[in-house]
Amino acid sequence: MNQLPLRHELTRLFREAFASRGADPAAGDVVLAQKPELGDFQCNGALAAAKALKLNPRQLAQDVVVALGENPLWTTLEIAGPGFINIRVGNAALADGLGATGADPRLGVAKVAAPRKFVLDFGGPNVAKPMHVGHLRSSIIGDSLQRLLRFLGHHVVSDIHLGDWGTQMGMLIGEVRAEHPSLPYFEEVPRAAYPTEPPVTIEDLQRLYPQASGRCKTDPAALAAAQKATAELQQGRPGYRALWRHFVELSLKELRDDFGALGVKFDHWFGESNYHEDLAPMVAKLRASGVAIEDAGAIIIPVAQADDKTEIAPLLLVKSDGGYLYATTDLATIQQRVRDFQAQVILYVVDKRQSLHFDQVFRAARKSSIAADVSLEHLAFGTMNGADGRPFKTRAGGVMRLKDLIQLMTEEADRTMLESGVSDGYQAEERARIARVLSLIHISEPTRLRR
Ligand code: ARG
Repeated sequence: MNQLPLRHELTRLFREAFASRGADPAAGDVVLAQKPELGDFQCNGALAAAKALKLNPRQLAQDVVVALGENPLWTTLEIAGPGFINIRVGNAALADGLGATGADPRLGVAKVAAPRKFVLDFGGPNVAKPMHVGHLRSSIIGDSLQRLLRFLGHHVVSDIHLGDWGTQMGMLIGEVRAEHPSLPYFEEVPRAAYPTEPPVTIEDLQRLYPQASGRCKTDPAALAAAQKATAELQQGRPGYRALWRHFVELSLKELRDDFGALGVKFDHWFGESNYHEDLAPMVAKLRASGVAIEDAGAIIIPVAQADDKTEIAPLLLVKSDGGYLYATTDLATIQQRVRDFQAQVILYVVDKRQSLHFDQVFRAARKSSIAADVSLEHLAFGTMNGADGRPFKTRAGGVMRLKDLIQLMTEEADRTMLESGVSDGYQAEERARIARVLSLIHISEPTRLRR
């Protein structure tokens, strides 16, 4: 019967009642009750309306209640304080309202009147690092936002911002070289073409990654070699580019599986490497405009503001050895998103350890013309920590892969259902599907299922 959500229907009736007493109909707006013990909804309009009519607000509220009369929508209308009307809704009306909302494909949620263009940056995994439980929050929060914003009618472009370009890439190149020095990728004279089949497997990469990062921590020569390899890769050394492409392709295949298992989709799988060509021209522009300045051989953008409570260090744009940084790439990424996607809002779903980074990048983007009137927001969240109370680290190795975790939890859910008999009578596929959903809920929101 009642097609409008309950509150809208109440508002319609209250507006009529106020109008019938000569008051501004807008006084009839009904809102959710602030104190549930006093009612389900309330109407506060009598106060302002009475003032305009030079009436006693309690009296006006009383007249409105009389004008409203009886209605199956409510069980009681009570006047409180100086003239608030508290509304207690009847069970039948509540059931009808819920039924109508449930039958509405949009669940009573209207689309926004003025859709905006959002770019959502989330996921952000790094090449060769297997996904683990610590990667879930960004993925789940980001994907939830993507779905909600789309449901509300906004335009959303999601982009994974793959970590495929930093020193880790040089470290991996060095590590592969140490194991297979005679591969063609390492020859001094470039070849016209390199093998199309990768020389390593994804398992190799996932083993080599922590190994390489451990070595570079303790061995300065290995670190220097990794940095050199990174610089050469970025400058376009053909053998390194070919080897790197294998790394990216192997990782992408694995990542598509992992995100697929979570039901998370991205519109774009751009990586940090996509912006490489944009960096030099962007830096030149920033220097020409005076936003970026030279400082001890490096190029920086001062971002401190007079009202800062703590000191915010300048953004390091170019190192003194000419190398670009994570922040340089992020600035170029904003530039691309504004240019190609006409982004109005860019949301970054990244854990809180990167708060300073984003603060610097956003300030620099606003200071320059890169994002003059784009809203930039870091949606920071806490880390998932191991038994030692510290965030899980792939580099240290020894963290269970997300894939294995999902499998383990699915088996566990299935066993629990079988033991308790709740899945008796279900077909095998249906049981497997439920077990999988349960495992995903449990993994992404562990407290939800805890008894
Ligand atoms: N790959 C980065 C990391 O592992 C996260 C990327 C977040 N997004 C961004 N635009 N910086 O820390």
